[in-house]
Amino acid sequence: MMAEIIADTTRSMLERWEANASRGQAIDARGEIILLTLEILLRTMFSGDLIGYEQELREAVIEYERHMDLVSAVNSVKLPAWFPNPGRRRFQGAVRTLERFIFRVVDERRRMQTDNGDLVSLLLWARDEETGESMNDRQIRDELMTVLQAGHDTVSDAIAWTWYLMAKHPDVRQRVEREVDSTLGGQPPRFEDLPALAYTNRVILESIRVYPPWVFARTPVEDDVIGGYHIPAKSLVVISPYVTHRLPEIWGNPEIFDPDRFLPERSEGRPRFAYYPFSAGPRQCVGAGVAMLEAQMIVFMAAQKYRLTAPPGFSPGLRPRISLTADCTLSLTPISRRSCAVAGADA
Ligand code: HEM
Repeated sequence: MMAEIIADTTRSMLERWEANASRGQAIDARGEIILLTLEILLRTMFSGDLIGYEQELREAVIEYERHMDLVSAVNSVKLPAWFPNPGRRRFQGAVRTLERFIFRVVDERRRMQTDNGDLVSLLLWARDEETGESMNDRQIRDELMTVLQAGHDTVSDAIAWTWYLMAKHPDVRQRVEREVDSTLGGQPPRFEDLPALAYTNRVILESIRVYPPWVFARTPVEDDVIGGYHIPAKSLVVISPYVTHRLPEIWGNPEIFDPDRFLPERSEGRPRFAYYPFSAGPRQCVGAGVAMLEAQMIVFMAAQKYRLTAPPGFSPGLRPRISLTADCTLSLTPISRRSCAVAGADA
């Protein structure tokens, strides 16, 4: 079901790119994926309830996400609450729109006793194993808002960076194309095909190693000692996958993009927490499986149809948000693979 929704929405995006490919016009890689993953998320969360609300919801989620930009978040906390701040007003407006929609759907589902098998139903009909209690509307709202925010721009960054790195490394891109062609034979990927695309999967893992979420934080409830350092209770402990993923003593030449690092024989003996883009422990990412499924399906399907190219010398800087974003538009030009084959430029 999830794989079908992803395939369906990805197909529409790839069809839209045909106009760009025929004119040699670049796409905004991250912008495209933002819209795509949002569509997938809304369809899996709310299934049939979206009709008539798509545009309003899309705009609200994008505004909500914009405020999650760490830089603007830091800037806005310096201002007192009474100070007129158009960014904050737009953010509050977006939150109200999303809440209105969530409460309407929850209310209607409760009244009609409907179970659509989507995320709203899952939360609505879940029972606490010990107490047998269900979630109240506020808890459901909080869960849905978290998923909307957490399940959206992280995966967009992961896929946009994968495309960028493939464009910068033609040898990698070529191996991906060969694997996708020989494994799928021009057919859309099915869930059971995914493990067979082993090299392309390593490309995705390596892209997320190079560009993971840059930090998240923990607050210890009591004093602790970690690696000989005293960590006082209530302090802010900042953990950075970005730093760990670039430790030379673990990764060799960490700045080099090398998907074969993830070959089983080269991964042997690597410490368990050398790679943690999805965090670890009880608060780790609940969407890691969904994220990998989305990344795999989208990267495979795009590689079947297009070769994405970057302008010569294009080297974007980094913008530290919750995940790691490029500091400029990731403009990549799609070239139809059919025309590459005709021109004999398949290598
Ligand atoms: C490549 C894509 C993704 C990456 C790198 C990623 C990374 C992370 C990280 C590092 C955390 C933990 C933050 C912490 O420990 O404080 C997290 C939490 C979370 N993620 Fe993801 N995520 C991704 C995709 C997704 C998707 C697709 C979904 C949902 C569909 C999702 C849902 C969540 C939720 C709900 C949490 C909060 C868990 C909690 O606090 O208990 N994530 N994610």
